[in-house]
Amino acid sequence: MGSEKDTLPNQSLRGFDHIDVIKTELENACPGVVSCADLLVLAARESVVLAGGPFYPVHTGRKDSDHSYPEISYELPSPLDDHSTTVTRFASRGFSQKETVTLLGAHSTGMIHCKFFERRLYKFGGTDQPDPSLDPEFAELLRSVCNNTQAESQSESSSPSPSASPAPSPSTKSDQERSMKMDYEGTGSGFGTLYYRGLLQGKGILFVDQQLLAGEETANWVRQYASDVSMFHRDFAQVMMKLSSIQVLTGQSGEVRTNCREVSSSLW
Ligand code: HEM
Repeated sequence: MGSEKDTLPNQSLRGFDHIDVIKTELENACPGVVSCADLLVLAARESVVLAGGPFYPVHTGRKDSDHSYPEISYELPSPLDDHSTTVTRFASRGFSQKETVTLLGAHSTGMIHCKFFERRLYKFGGTDQPDPSLDPEFAELLRSVCNNTQAESQSESSSPSPSASPAPSPSTKSDQERSMKMDYEGTGSGFGTLYYRGLLQGKGILFVDQQLLAGEETANWVRQYASDVSMFHRDFAQVMMKLSSIQVLTGQSGEVRTNCREVSSSLW
């Protein structure tokens, strides 16, 4: 059966090896009890806590789907979506503009591959110029990271501010390896703080992030979260609980997979 994981929009997802390890432990301890859906929601919560974000309670008891829906992955938002497309897409799943801003605060942790923002750095939107909403110095940092001239300091240093414009050299890394840390100022920068303050300075890595400033209501929430990180943590906890309750299978629907990479149903 074709799988969501194999489709183009999901090609750079990672961490499934960790999911397999956790699932094996669970199956050894109590076979057929904890679904992969619950495992993912709990793992996401623990990751948020480890990244310096808030703890939030999550319900368990989800079942896994006994089908795979690869075509649905093409409905995922794009990193190049503009403000109104993003707001419309999130509204179609029941999220307000405020909740959209809150959810995107998850872009405080993890990695972004250069291919998702590289075209902002050079000729953007059919012009000869970089994206004008991007801070020029930050664009220089991103260019140097993607050209591999700052790869070392970007992954290790806590303050990778661009030095005097290093000359771009041809990258020796593959597309799969060229990436920027979301918390490029170091993990001490606080979950949410750097993200929202960064947006106000034109330092959103993805176009879709920076576009939060293109609408009055979303820009207002960006400003509020930039100045009150506790408010962001409170709202983020709530919206993650909401996100993890959407279209959940329970009771007799679905199954508990024994291997998160395969459906267990005898139908298949
Ligand atoms: C408009 C909606 C969104 C778009 C277009 C988007 C796009 C992206 C892209 C392009 C990346 C980089 C992936 C890579 O380089 O491998 C990314 C990473 C990430 N996104 Fe989003 N995202 C969106 C919403 C969200 C939401 C709602 C969450 C969670 C609540 C989230 C959490 C993350 C995390 C944690 C990463 C880092 C992944 C890693 O380190 O491998 N994103 N996102």
